[in-house]
Amino acid sequence: MSVTTDTTHTAPARGMNTFGDLSAHIVRVLENNGADISQLGVPPQPEPHDGLWEDVSVPQANARRTMWRNSIIDAAHDEYLAFRFDHLDESQKPNTLQRWLDSLVEAKKLDARPAVLNMIMPGNIGSGKTAAAISLGNEAAERGLWTLFLKHATYLTWRRPDSAPHNMKAWEVRKRFVECDLLILDELCGEMDVVATEFARKETIDLIDARIAAGRPTAYTTNLRSRRQPGSQAMGVVDILGERLLSRLESSAHLAKIVGPDRRKPAKPLDW
Ligand SMILES: Nc1ncnc2c1ncn2[C@@H]1O[C@H](COP(=O)(O)OP(=O)(O)O)[C@@H](O)[C@H]1O
Ligand SMILES: [Mg+2]
Repeated sequence: MSVTTDTTHTAPARGMNTFGDLSAHIVRVLENNGADISQLGVPPQPEPHDGLWEDVSVPQANARRTMWRNSIIDAAHDEYLAFRFDHLDESQKPNTLQRWLDSLVEAKKLDARPAVLNMIMPGNIGSGKTAAAISLGNEAAERGLWTLFLKHATYLTWRRPDSAPHNMKAWEVRKRFVECDLLILDELCGEMDVVATEFARKETIDLIDARIAAGRPTAYTTNLRSRRQPGSQAMGVVDILGERLLSRLESSAHLAKIVGPDRRKPAKPLDW
């Protein structure tokens, strides 16, 4: 096969060639402005559908959106991917979430620490916390923030040796969730009790502490109260995080309480 567009000349034969033959061939290739890629069987690059190749921010933004989607798929929460602020009820505080997201995007552009680092979204089971938090993530990912979704209990599982998907090492799990621009940490201290292991406590404190120290925003949902209520056996978030870290978290946080009935409960209890 000739590698030039000039079909009147052929390439030197395979095997031994005198240097003169080779250099004459190379001169012809150069005269033709190099090898004709179309004749080498190299598939052409697909046309960019959303921007110029030179703009690296385009493929980067696509990669971030894909990472967000994959984190939702890993959590088996695909059905929440369609939620946008517009779909939320007033009780899910879409305006508070929207304003906070605006401030995060501004801070990211200026490479500055966001004025308010955390969003705390407490509420009863089924009140719509996860839907609100994922709509925030969906909107954030579309605006170019590297956003990830993670259930707190899943993080604790993945941090154990050889327990994370996609061959991720435990250290890679920590790195990813500490370094992303915005983390949606769902069900903070869910499935934990007062005797949560030292491992769970240490890992949780480390993740939250590292994100605060680096100035990276995090949105938390939880159906726990911050502190144990008088007369109640239910644990508070403070029992896991400790008073010092909880006050650090609260010192730069918006509170978006989500109050509402359990949306999953059937209107009429099933009789069985
Ligand atoms: N604004 C909404 N409109 C319609 N359905 C919603 C809305 N918010 C939540 N849901 C649905 O209600 C159910 C419970 O919401 P979810 O966010 O999972 O609650 P929580 O995380 O507080 O337990 C889910 O099936 C979710 O899809
Ligand atoms: Mg939920």
